[in-house]
Amino acid sequence: MSLQEFFQELELFGAAATQRFAAAEDTAALEAARIEFLGARSGRLKQLQKALGQLPAADRPQAGQRFHQVRQQVEQAFKAAQARLCQQQRASRSAELFDPTVPGLRPPLGHLHPITQTIEQLKEIMGRLGFSLADGPEVEDEWHNFEALNIPPEHPARDPLDNFYLATASQLAGGGPMLLRSQTSTVQIRVMERQKPPVRIIAVGRVYRPDTPDPTHSPMFHQIEGLMVDRHVTMADLKTVLRMLGESYFHGEVHIRFRPSFFPFTEPSVEIDMSWQGRWIEMGGAGMVDPNVLRAVGYDPEQVSGFAFGLGIERLCMRQHGVDDIREFFRNDVRFLQQF
Ligand code: DAH
Repeated sequence: MSLQEFFQELELFGAAATQRFAAAEDTAALEAARIEFLGARSGRLKQLQKALGQLPAADRPQAGQRFHQVRQQVEQAFKAAQARLCQQQRASRSAELFDPTVPGLRPPLGHLHPITQTIEQLKEIMGRLGFSLADGPEVEDEWHNFEALNIPPEHPARDPLDNFYLATASQLAGGGPMLLRSQTSTVQIRVMERQKPPVRIIAVGRVYRPDTPDPTHSPMFHQIEGLMVDRHVTMADLKTVLRMLGESYFHGEVHIRFRPSFFPFTEPSVEIDMSWQGRWIEMGGAGMVDPNVLRAVGYDPEQVSGFAFGLGIERLCMRQHGVDDIREFFRNDVRFLQQF
């Protein structure tokens, strides 16, 4: 075959293949055309490739270049035909299948994270007891996280190794140190600083401590803080509120046990144990607001008294659902989260 004949054949091939692919009305016709033109063994493209190999060596580069162009065009045309038929098929199938009387497919709906569910329930329960929701920042200064809570500079709770201190822009500009709050008790101060007694609030949110994660520790977890300040508030009020909170949350009889403890911002201070279905678990700390704290926010400890408590939200949620590893809540494995 001469070079001229080769080019002629090649153009004929290109035009014919493109035309046939475009005209194919179904997949069978397209497949037949594919075998004829692009078939690996004896398709027309294959024959042209052989003819190319037999051209004089001097003609081959020029012929080869055009050969590749035409091959690409034809392959493109084939793919376009495939896509066109595929779409046609889909359209006709869905027209066939559409039955307006069949109930629709329900899209899979997510739901709230178990910790969020617990938080919503706690807010609702405490709301019924007259506690409104207060909020504070997760990045705190030392005044709100420690100082105003009667935690002096030498107190071990302030150890930099036990807190997430931050190098913030404000500190770099000469402001005081900032840290991720280690407790929601910070919000007690923020509320009392801007509000006169009586106070009846809860604060809910994340707190941070550099603990190594294990089944009962996570460097980030949630607390619910309660604060009530008024005339004649007593520990009996505290215990009653905690029992009502526990019984509403667990939907059953709950006992509250106080164990003597120490917190710088309460006096006296207690650890709270809750028993539900015959098992005691430790829920957090509480006490009567220390007069030093009341004074720090400009309240008169001779006029008002208050109780405060802080509970671990994961603990409540774990106890309710029988979860035995706090890390499950934050692994984001849908198979776990779906169960709630
Ligand atoms: N802030 C304490 C903690 O994180 C818990 C706590 C104890 C909160 C006593 C209180 C309280 O409000 O009165 O360990």
